[in-house]
Amino acid sequence: MITLMRKYLWPAFLVLSTVTFLFSGACGVLAEELEPIKLSAPRLEKGKLLMEALSERQSSRSFSSEPLPIEVLSDLLWAAFGVNRPDSGRRTAPSARNWQEIDIYVAMEKGLYLYDAGQNVLQPVLAQDIRAACGLQAFTQIAPVDLIFVADLSKMSGDKTITDFYSATDTGFISQNVYLFCASEGLSTVVLGWVDRIRLAEIMGLKENQKIVLTQPVGYAE
Ligand SMILES: Cc1cc2nc3c(=O)[nH]c(=O)nc-3n(C[C@H](O)[C@H](O)[C@H](O)COP(=O)(O)O)c2cc1C
Repeated sequence: MITLMRKYLWPAFLVLSTVTFLFSGACGVLAEELEPIKLSAPRLEKGKLLMEALSERQSSRSFSSEPLPIEVLSDLLWAAFGVNRPDSGRRTAPSARNWQEIDIYVAMEKGLYLYDAGQNVLQPVLAQDIRAACGLQAFTQIAPVDLIFVADLSKMSGDKTITDFYSATDTGFISQNVYLFCASEGLSTVVLGWVDRIRLAEIMGLKENQKIVLTQPVGYAE
C-alpha cells in the first residue's frame, strides 16, 4: 500500500504543486486582472478630537480579517499621505525638501495596489495576495490591509546616509498619521520593522531604486 502511494500519489502531488506555483506566478504578473479602485474624498468632519486620538494612540497586534469599508480605506490613505493642499500638491505629512519620495503600497486579499494620492486612486500592481510577506509576524496575513512604505530613491539626492535618514524620518511622519487615524477610528495598527525586505521587494517586483522602509497592518481588532 505504502509502495503504491509512493509510486502514484507523490508524482501527482508534484504535478499539482507545480501547477499551483505556475498559476500563482501567472496571477502575480497579471495586474491587468485588477481594476483601479477609485477612492472617496476624505470626510473632514469625522473623527475624534486630536487630544483624544493622541491619548488613545497605541500599537496593537490583534487583527480580525474584516475588510475596511472603502470610505475608511480612503480616509486612512488620505490621513497617511494624501494631498491636503491641491494648489501646490502638498501632503498631510511633511517630507524632506518636499521630495515626497515615500510611496504607499496597499496589500489586500485581492492584490497589491499603489496609492496615487494626486488622482485619489489605488492603481493595480499585482493580482496576488502578498500579505503574508509583509512582516515576520503572523497577523500581517490576517489584517485586511497591510501598508508598505517604499522610498523612491530616484526622487532624492545625496549619499546613502542622507537618503536612509530622510526616507526613514519621512516614513515616520506618515506612520504616525496612520496611528492617529487608527486611534480616531477605533482601528488596530502597529508599524513593523521586522520584515524580510529582500523577499518582499522581490515579490513586489520593485526596482533597484526602490527601498522598503517599514510596513504597517491596519484592521479591526479581533
Ligand atoms: C521603527 C519601528 C519599528 C517597529 N517594528 C515592530 C515590529 O517589527 N513588530 C512589532 O510588533 N512592533 C514593532 N514596532 C512597535 C513597537 O514595538 C511599539 O511602538 C513599542 O512597543 C511602543 O508601544 P506603543 O506603540 O503602543 O507605544 C516598531 C516601532 C517602530 C517605531
